[in-house]
Amino acid sequence: MKKIAIMTAGGDCAGLNAAIKSVVMAATKRNIVVVGIIDGFIGFVERKYIVLDTKAVENIERQGGTILGSSNKECPFHYPSKEKENVFEDRVKDSIEALKKIGVEGMIVIGGDGTLDSARVIDEAGMPTIGIPKTIDNDMVASNPTIGFDTGVENAVEAIRKLKTTAASHRRVMVVEMMGRTSGYLTLYSGFAAGADIILLPEREYDLNVVCNKVKEIMNTDKRYVIIAVSEACKQIGKEETISKVIKNSFEQKRFGGIAAKLSAQIEEITGYESRPMVLGHLQRGGDPCASDIILGARLGDYALKLISSGEHGYIVGVKQNELQKIEFPKERIPRILDLEKDDIYMTAMDMGISFGI
Ligand code: F6P
Repeated sequence: MKKIAIMTAGGDCAGLNAAIKSVVMAATKRNIVVVGIIDGFIGFVERKYIVLDTKAVENIERQGGTILGSSNKECPFHYPSKEKENVFEDRVKDSIEALKKIGVEGMIVIGGDGTLDSARVIDEAGMPTIGIPKTIDNDMVASNPTIGFDTGVENAVEAIRKLKTTAASHRRVMVVEMMGRTSGYLTLYSGFAAGADIILLPEREYDLNVVCNKVKEIMNTDKRYVIIAVSEACKQIGKEETISKVIKNSFEQKRFGGIAAKLSAQIEEITGYESRPMVLGHLQRGGDPCASDIILGARLGDYALKLISSGEHGYIVGVKQNELQKIEFPKERIPRILDLEKDDIYMTAMDMGISFGI
């Protein structure tokens, strides 16, 4: 193998650059040229490529985001036509041909579920491909953790700690909304590590009365403030999720948002205590990676390169109990579920008296 391509697609996170760097370094050692595809599937379809040498990846492992750029709505087999509005085309075959024409013999695709489903389609269409999972949501079966999760937790913990001092000064309730879509990993782990009093997860519908009673109970102690960590896709019992927008043609069309504002207003009205909403949003995805994400990104990048350069393809690489593993591209999305009764952190939090609103 003389040339491969690499791309990042889907929502960005910290640790992507470490994976890109290890692919480039390990490929260069084997005299394999690495072509970087710009802006995810936009660059794949529109032939936006750059060559990545060791100079181009120097020190990038320390930077957040992705030096290649990303997009989380374009899909190569349902790509908007340039000529006709609302018409979508399958651009997989011609895009593979364009890469083959410049000598590319294999691809490494770094992304979440939607991206890796497209990677499977590309592999089946004749371009040998390996997928690397990443997402702050940590909800992929292929890897536990996924690239970006640990940094997402660190970012949220730092933010909640800051909110605590202002909440304490003003004797307020702070309702902190976190990303993670329908998976509660990010909220559970960061809420727990930051010492939240109440943690509300998408895996458990909450009872508003239980939440308000807990707020009153804490406010009647010397503590003076309450921190509530709420997952963006959380639901009150009998109510729907709070959607901020719908992005047509995106793999995951719903964008959640607004639960903190809603819950904060309800708490203020019911308990009489002053309450403020705070949406952490993309702050959780941004910034430089923590060491564990750099290490994970580098390990998975190197493993992906080893597989593709030895002729293996059709796999997603990941870690399970810290061991590298490869699984075949799944035919359908199988999200990794946060099984609360089996989750040691959830059980510990329950034991410590943290409320889950139930
Ligand atoms: O899946 C990663 C993620 O960051 C989710 O946690 C969040 O709901 C979503 O992406 C946000 O997407 P966007 O970047 O399109 O706002």
